[in-house]
Amino acid sequence: MIDKINRLKEEIEDFDITDAQSLEAFRLEYLSRNGKVQDMFKLMGSVPKDQKAAVGKLMNDVKVLAQERFNREKEKLERAQTKQFGPKDDITIPVEPTYTGSYHPLTIALNEIKQIFLRLGFNIADGPELEDDFHNFTALNFPPDHPARDMQDTFFIRRNDTGSKDDLVLRTHTSPVQIRLMKEKNPPIRSIMPGRVFRNEAVTAKSYFQFNQVEGLYVDRSVTMGELIETLVMFARLMYGSDVKYRVRPSFFPFTEPSIEMDIWWNNENGGQWLEILGAGMVDPNVFDAVGVDSEAYTGFAFGMGVDRIAMLRYGIDDIRLLYDNDIRFLNQFKL
Ligand code: PHE
Repeated sequence: MIDKINRLKEEIEDFDITDAQSLEAFRLEYLSRNGKVQDMFKLMGSVPKDQKAAVGKLMNDVKVLAQERFNREKEKLERAQTKQFGPKDDITIPVEPTYTGSYHPLTIALNEIKQIFLRLGFNIADGPELEDDFHNFTALNFPPDHPARDMQDTFFIRRNDTGSKDDLVLRTHTSPVQIRLMKEKNPPIRSIMPGRVFRNEAVTAKSYFQFNQVEGLYVDRSVTMGELIETLVMFARLMYGSDVKYRVRPSFFPFTEPSIEMDIWWNNENGGQWLEILGAGMVDPNVFDAVGVDSEAYTGFAFGMGVDRIAMLRYGIDDIRLLYDNDIRFLNQFKL
């Protein structure tokens, strides 16, 4: 009996397995219900009682041996097969983390603003961030001694190459793009002009040396103040919801007359407060004169709003510096 078992054991060890077919033959020969291992167990009936335990153990070892050989050969064949299709990466190596991008909160806010004005029939224009005094100030009717030209607000840029007078500035607002547009083309003009602007201000949670504006300009025959206010109210409703509480106050800008500012009511823990969202007004005839638009034939309105404020209110961002640090832990919060 012991001999029989040992012979079976040798047979199992020596069986020639080279491919899927011989593997299957092995399985049928030894592991199937009618295979030699099961047959061997049938012999247990003839084993004397006192030897049953020892023989049973030997038989079981053979069974495990057969199963293990089968598993091993099967795995070997499978591995050989994948190799035929080229080297495979080790799938147990941890993958590099991948970072999916997200829109910057300023981009999200700007896209919303653009969508609203595109619906209202405006197109989109832009201009340079490096401006000259004429476009940033003079053509916009700033008197030569206006405080906004002061060193404290404006970054002046020295023009080394030409040796000409230092009249380059980082634009302090997007209004110079109005000037470029009106010089380039005749009315009607109905455009928004998004862009980055720069002011020489101390960096704090509330102010930064750069921020973003969206300028608006509508010039045609008989554009009215009523149309300006209607457009701004429409914007406020689409941006902040149809129940938005707003107010329009008189204001002053050198390039618009009359000038206004619009506030919206912002609810917060302490009840709420009025927040200025934009400046606007009717284009001053002096501006038309500076760019060669006939101020007798045409009127127009202009507005300028801050994008950073809108994004900060929308997402409860309490420090403007977060918008420019580009910390990935901050940016990842704005997945759409
Ligand atoms: N340029 C002004 C500012 O930066 C905003 C403005 C634009 C006001 C157009 C009136 C008309 O504050």
